[in-house]
Amino acid sequence: MRLVCYNLKKLCLITGEKMNYKSIILAAGKGTRMKSDLPKVLHKVNGIPMVKKVMSVLEEAGSNENILVLGHKIELVLEQLGNPEYVQQKEQLGTGHAIKVTYDKFKNYKGDILITCGDTPLLTSNTIKALVEKHKNSGAKATILTAIEENPFGYGRILKKAGKVEAIIEENEASEEIKLIKEVNAGVYCFDSETLFNALLEVNNNNEKGEYYLTDVIKVLVNRGEVIGSYEVEDNKETLGVNSKVQLAQAEQILRERKNIQLMDDGVILINPSTTYIEENVVIGRDTVIYPNALIQGDTKIGENCEILGNTRIIDSEIGNEVRIESSAIESSKVEDKVTIGPFAHIRAKSHLKESVHIGNFVETKDSILDKGVKAGHLTYIGNTEVGEKTNFGAGTITCNYDGKNKHRTIIGKNVFIGSDTKFVAPVSIGDDALIAAGSVITKNIPDRALAFARARQENKKEWKKK
Ligand code: UD1
Ligand code: CA
Repeated sequence: MRLVCYNLKKLCLITGEKMNYKSIILAAGKGTRMKSDLPKVLHKVNGIPMVKKVMSVLEEAGSNENILVLGHKIELVLEQLGNPEYVQQKEQLGTGHAIKVTYDKFKNYKGDILITCGDTPLLTSNTIKALVEKHKNSGAKATILTAIEENPFGYGRILKKAGKVEAIIEENEASEEIKLIKEVNAGVYCFDSETLFNALLEVNNNNEKGEYYLTDVIKVLVNRGEVIGSYEVEDNKETLGVNSKVQLAQAEQILRERKNIQLMDDGVILINPSTTYIEENVVIGRDTVIYPNALIQGDTKIGENCEILGNTRIIDSEIGNEVRIESSAIESSKVEDKVTIGPFAHIRAKSHLKESVHIGNFVETKDSILDKGVKAGHLTYIGNTEVGEKTNFGAGTITCNYDGKNKHRTIIGKNVFIGSDTKFVAPVSIGDDALIAAGSVITKNIPDRALAFARARQENKKEWKKK
């Protein structure tokens, strides 16, 4: 079901009704209140940078074009976002100034512009669509998204007279009386492009912060006799602006809850959703059971009927159907159907475990292919190795893949019986159906079906203690 929904979503994007507007995402600020070296909009919520989340929501909402305003640590932001369309705001002189610097992109454009901020990651595409629709239907030159906040501290307040928007007053400029207003500016607006840029010419920075406030555009328009529209969001959780790390954690929790609900709706079983951490891009098949304290991250795909037990971390991996994983770490790997892993295994990058492989406790794999039915039950390191079907690793087996400078490969055939405490000094290759005596240090190739001993013969000195 999850897969179907995922595809449906994609389908909507492909056939996606474009709503005929362009968007600006404000993301140039430093985020002083975050007290961080990382630009605010790169802080992650449920696994993705806030600004990326905003970009994907806008795409879902049918925006024709997204233009980012970037400034603080611009190289770092661009590196994270690939090749977005952007304008650089060299000095962060305020949200009004940030819009002004995009003028070149819009000077020949006649139409609507949706403005949103890179720090409101909970906004949904439905809300944006509803705002744009109201704006277009009403014919207003500007429509503001508002929310009712029990604790409106920090937000711009919506000043209304006889139900009509008069102005947006920022926290710093607000009188005690205005501070009591609970209807706040969500930082999302729809403007007629020409009206917006024209009104911005009248906005100054004579205020507490010495900034050009985008919100002052409203006053300018009201003075010109324009009627300003407003659309109140249904769920005020959507408009949370992330300015601090406390708000970052609040946003994270809400997004995680949404993701969990979506997964359960699609047929996944979460034993205790509040202690289950599943990032935004993860896909999970129906009837898979996720136990508490599982952390599933990045671009991970998990099939149906799996059991993912507690204290497991899976990142950027593909897991088949009917797989059981207990207390283990899995990174950038592929795990096929009916594999069992753990407890306490570490499946490192580029491991490929084919059908019905069994990996037991204290086993580490890296850059290796284990064919169907391979078993490594205990205390084993398998690195830069290819292993044929049904080969069995005894406890304490190690592939010695590194000579201090280079990595070398170990090739092991099918149905090989590897005695406990075997060391393979790579490069080395083992034929099918070979047997290796326990405690062997294998430095030479072994042909098919051979028995290899590579250890000192045992000698017993009789009555040694008496001497
Ligand atoms: C802003 C609004 C406020 C609203 C709130 C909603 C203004 C003046 N105030 O306040 O009314 O209630 O959002 O969350 O607009 N940015 C730039 N360049 C700049 C300054 C800011 O790109 O020069 C970006 C920031 O990176 C951020 C966004 O604009 O993504 C909003 O800036 P922020 O400082 O967070 O504004 P708030 O104080 O939250
Ligand atoms: Ca903000």
